[in-house]
Amino acid sequence: MQNRFRKSRTGPGSRPVVRKRVSALRSVILVGFMGAGKTTVGQALSRRLGLPFEDLDDRIEQRERKTIKQIFRDSGEAEFRRAESAALQELLSELGSVTRVVALGGGAFVQAGNAALIGEAKVHSVFLDAPVEELLRRCEEEPVERPMRRDPKQFRELYETRRQSYMKAMVRIETGGKDVETVAAEVAWSLGLE
Ligand code: S3P
Repeated sequence: MQNRFRKSRTGPGSRPVVRKRVSALRSVILVGFMGAGKTTVGQALSRRLGLPFEDLDDRIEQRERKTIKQIFRDSGEAEFRRAESAALQELLSELGSVTRVVALGGGAFVQAGNAALIGEAKVHSVFLDAPVEELLRRCEEEPVERPMRRDPKQFRELYETRRQSYMKAMVRIETGGKDVETVAAEVAWSLGLE
């Protein structure tokens, strides 16, 4: 994939693999593993659809007044998941009245309670998928430090564990070997927006 999938805080191609064709005018929630391009595709999709973009990790950092890295370091994963669920609930309550493109962190949709809340909300959930070796390569190329990525073996095992959870999203888009704009176009197409 061309190197536009960096997670920086700071014309449709081939048809996507879709499980369901759905209608528009709802918020779009992007889920998937680390390196899936949720943030970069989300930003491209938001430009395309003329909707505001939000990254749930940014909301967590603002609410907790700490970086994701600090939360993991000071309080551990369980506390991070609590903060993540709280931020998600707050965000979903807002999506009742505003429409946005949202990128979730890689573990958010894996938590059954979070997935249930998203399932009940009137939003489109989209799983951005890629071969795990490509996800690993993208993460290794990025300057972002991810607490849940320790070594390649652990990364591959975590991906395998989580993949079935991501498959519960309404739509799956394969991103392997594609650039960001192509993936954003495929997401829009799969939602019936283009
Ligand atoms: C996490 C992924 C991160 C971030 C946190 C936990 C995970 O987001 O939410 O470090 O559990 O996979 P990205 O998927 O955007 O890297």
